[in-house]
Amino acid sequence: MNAGRARLILHTDGFSPPGSCAWHTRQKLIPARGSLLKYRLIVVTGKGGVGKTTVSCALAEAARRAGKRVLLAETAAIESAASRFEARPAPLGYSGRVLRPGLHAMRVDPHEALADYVRLQTGLGAVTDRVLQTKTFQQFLEAAPGWRELITLGRIWHLEQQRDDRGEPLYDLLIVDAPATGHGLTFLDVPRVVQQAVRAGPLSRHAGWVEELVHDRERTLLLPVTLPEELPVTETAELVERARAEIDIAVDRIIVNRLPAHPDAGLGTALEALPKDLTFEVLPALCDLRKIIEHAHHRNALARAQRARVSERCQLPVVDMPNLPNGCGAKSGWAGRAHHLLEDPVWPDAATEGASAA
Ligand SMILES: Nc1ncnc2c1ncn2[C@@H]1O[C@H](COP(=O)(O)OP(=O)(O)O)[C@@H](O)[C@H]1O
Ligand SMILES: [Mg+2]
Repeated sequence: MNAGRARLILHTDGFSPPGSCAWHTRQKLIPARGSLLKYRLIVVTGKGGVGKTTVSCALAEAARRAGKRVLLAETAAIESAASRFEARPAPLGYSGRVLRPGLHAMRVDPHEALADYVRLQTGLGAVTDRVLQTKTFQQFLEAAPGWRELITLGRIWHLEQQRDDRGEPLYDLLIVDAPATGHGLTFLDVPRVVQQAVRAGPLSRHAGWVEELVHDRERTLLLPVTLPEELPVTETAELVERARAEIDIAVDRIIVNRLPAHPDAGLGTALEALPKDLTFEVLPALCDLRKIIEHAHHRNALARAQRARVSERCQLPVVDMPNLPNGCGAKSGWAGRAHHLLEDPVWPDAATEGASAA
């Protein structure tokens, strides 16, 4: 199927098995997906190690190159986004800094965000800080469920609201490098839970605003990242199912990270044409070279089969992020490949992709 074609696709709601009556009544016809740049808030999610930070940075870079004013917000305890842009990264910190023209990056620390929030609510400066730093208050926070998530999302909501001197939004696109899955979804569900528990007062109001932003299908997108491997694909399918059933947040594509490049088809043919008894001084023997090429084809087919599987299980098209042979360090040249993430999502054809992996 061709994703470039303007067409309508079936969107399942994740509640009912495909084909059931409820599925038919709940399914919605939605237009083929456009560029990620149409969104205002993108929450990049997935298990640890699948490439959330890499994809968040690449998306931020691609968006900034496309002329957007981008805010990249890290939520992990240990910062790593700056190291993708700078050979000697200094901490981003809570206020963050400009990493490239058009790209501001920060780490949303929940303790600092809470101090900010309380200061804003009470109008008290140093007094607030003293209270927040007391041991009793710290212990209270450690025991209080969900505050970190709510306050982190609240900070993002606040950043989304910021306007420049002309009243224009300060950022066109906010990218959140979310906590690893599990936490990632709890993170998005907290405003709803708080709203149910606290029905009045500033906290409820605050949670209400944040919840509105999370559920706004025009502006906010959950962007799952997976590797083209069996376990991450299974986990991604579960994540998408939960996101649909529990959070009600838009998910319109899956990023398949580290997709191996197609092995050069001509290479095998070229090797076949060489005399059978030819030996190389420094290269492996001809028969070993053939095995290496076969292995690369097999690996590629397996990865493509998993790519088709994640699309099938989630009923979503995919966007590929190539495997970067030189890694993702500041000097590895990854930024030149970042634009891949802005390509139209495609529907892999399960019947042909990865067929040779079977
Ligand atoms: N497309 C890619 N090509 C090459 N290396 C990658 C790619 N994506 C991620 N990596 C590497 O994999 C590791 C985990 O990626 P990272 O983005 O930090 O994952 P996460 O944020 O999900 O924990 C890092 O060492 C990173 O450099
Ligand atoms: Mg990370």
